[in-house]
Amino acid sequence: RKPVTVPDIVARKRDGVPVVMVTAYDATFARLVDACDVDIVLVGDSLGMVMQGHEHTLEVTVEHMIYHARCVRRALRCAHLTVDMPFMSYQTTPEAAVENAGRLVKEGGAASVKLEGCARVLPAIERIVAAGIPVMGHLGLTPQSVHAFGGFKVQARNSDAAERLRSEAAQLEQAGCYSIVLEGIPAPLATEVSASLSIPTIGIGAGKGCDGQVLVMQDLLGLDDSFKPKFVKRYATLADPIREAFSAFAADVRARAFPGPEHSFGIKKSRVRAAPE
Ligand code: KIV
Ligand code: NA
Repeated sequence: RKPVTVPDIVARKRDGVPVVMVTAYDATFARLVDACDVDIVLVGDSLGMVMQGHEHTLEVTVEHMIYHARCVRRALRCAHLTVDMPFMSYQTTPEAAVENAGRLVKEGGAASVKLEGCARVLPAIERIVAAGIPVMGHLGLTPQSVHAFGGFKVQARNSDAAERLRSEAAQLEQAGCYSIVLEGIPAPLATEVSASLSIPTIGIGAGKGCDGQVLVMQDLLGLDDSFKPKFVKRYATLADPIREAFSAFAADVRARAFPGPEHSFGIKKSRVRAAPE
């Protein structure tokens, strides 16, 4: 397999081949994802929740993104690496945006960056694209706007908001985005928007009419039993076997059943050396 490039991702749409994206935040899991024919690994600012334990993504910094991107980058051979621009790293000025996008590429090893929203950030997107950094857009339930939304709620459910989203998607394509994540919007709207664009849409909670799909790794693997929103499909329930493994280890240690002789080292016999003449 060859490394997945931005033109490859755009070509998937023309060829009718769905784009597969999964998040990762560390080398161990990135290596597993990379071995599985996934197109894009996203170092998402969802790491604020799944790595840092926050309720939202707002406290994530550019430094945090760079740290996790570097961890993931080292493990990737083929998958395309996209890194999220965190809250307030691109909303202030286009100059700050292009500088921070550049850091994600130079220091984090990103091959493209993703940022949320449209109107207020179009100049930032244009500047980043002009610098030669491919940009993935993100519309709908954009988590960095959680306080404006009053919670994580499905967006664009009325006709005005749907019309606005249609127009935003067209503007993002016009500004040079190579793909757009559609998150938490009605499936028929996502289908319609996807059909109206020539760049691929990647859906999460946006139905099957998108040109690709993304899930957060922890959700896909079922690592958190307390989190099972409607849009998530668990492809495994790994929380159970992981807990069983930890419990078995604890029981073995307390019973002095681990380590066994097969896990232990003996003393090396010292070689008898010839006495010097
Ligand atoms: O941060 C993230 O994981 C994301 C995806 C859910 C699209 O933005
Ligand atoms: Na994100």
